[in-house]
Amino acid sequence: MRILVVGGGGREHAIVSALSRSAHKPDLYCMPGNGGTAMLAVNVPAEIDDPATIITWVENNPVDLVVVGPEGPLVTGLANMLAVAGVPCFGPKAAGAEFEGSKLFAKQFMERHGIPTAKAEGFDSKDEAFAYLEEHGAPVVVKADGLAAGKGVTVAFELSDAKLAAEICFNGDFGEAGEVVVIEDYLEGPECSLLAFTDGETVLPMLPAQDHKRALDGDAGPNTGGMGVYTPVPSVSSEALAEMTAILERTVAGMREEGIDYRGVLYGGFVLTAEGPKVLEYNARFGDPETQVVLPLLKTDLVDVMMATAEKRLSEITLEWSDDAAVSVVLASGGYPADYETDLPITGIEAAEQVEGVTVFHAGTTIQESGTLVTSGGRVLNVTAVAPTLAEARTRAYEAVERIDFLAMQYRTDIGLKAL
Ligand code: GLY
Repeated sequence: MRILVVGGGGREHAIVSALSRSAHKPDLYCMPGNGGTAMLAVNVPAEIDDPATIITWVENNPVDLVVVGPEGPLVTGLANMLAVAGVPCFGPKAAGAEFEGSKLFAKQFMERHGIPTAKAEGFDSKDEAFAYLEEHGAPVVVKADGLAAGKGVTVAFELSDAKLAAEICFNGDFGEAGEVVVIEDYLEGPECSLLAFTDGETVLPMLPAQDHKRALDGDAGPNTGGMGVYTPVPSVSSEALAEMTAILERTVAGMREEGIDYRGVLYGGFVLTAEGPKVLEYNARFGDPETQVVLPLLKTDLVDVMMATAEKRLSEITLEWSDDAAVSVVLASGGYPADYETDLPITGIEAAEQVEGVTVFHAGTTIQESGTLVTSGGRVLNVTAVAPTLAEARTRAYEAVERIDFLAMQYRTDIGLKAL
């Protein structure tokens, strides 16, 4: 069996790692991959934002399954093109990826199907957006409608910040993604991610996880792609988990009613409000870094789960999970999420993995021709520890973090602390 994983972050390293544990012993390829996937798969250098490149590669290198990590190629129709080429794909076609590709589309879908979420309006003119903001006041959330590499969302506690965020979108900083601006009510409460495998009929939820979006300890500093994550989430009651699961099921039922054939991961980003969980956003893919704590606890063979998802026979699968806890700490380049240096040598990963239960997933790393492992991105490594309790997983993760070094390395010291 041959499987191509598209992407090159910590999420894809975690996916490749879980696939490499499969009893099917697949030959794995990762496009473009990173310094970590290179140890488990053949890295295929390529520009993945152009689906045609991937299709050409697959035509010359037949595979049994393509697993798509990031949203970009899904939104531009990679799964549609793979379907035409007759290649099973884990990841939705463009119509399903629109749940992430257009925030307004997702909001309007939720309204049509009575799915709990914040009230929202879409605007394609600055004057109308400003008039709405004047009337609404702060706090309020301003979002670029389209994909903006995680940078298009502003939670504004002052009206002036909300206007500035809308202006940045309309000024073209996010290109087409900012041509429509979605303004929504601010939801109060802790966030929780619940991802589910779905083939458009069956919905199999994974373990809930809590990401830490802000750059600095105490949820201070700018928003990032995610600085660390843990599972389980003790603040999620069994009632809240059941409600989140029911919301994902209703979402997939709604997709079916609207003729959307969704196969892959449906990611529900929830806020646990006083009135119960509400959807903050959907993503059409695995979360990053959520995947880095969820997949290490999956006992079911991931190849079986993904093939069944792609072939619409997920009802044959039962997911089994370890009872352990997992914590993942993101080690980032100094300056991230703003400018940062790259090509800085990384040391200590082997020593870190000597700590019991620890795996270091690579995100922004590359191996130079000399064989030196260097930084190549904002989020560099995800130090993930599995242990019988969250407290022990935290201790192990941070013990491992202390063994790793690269110039100007930054990380949060409070990942998972709230849960304790
Ligand atoms: N952890 C946030 C995301 O994957 O979008």
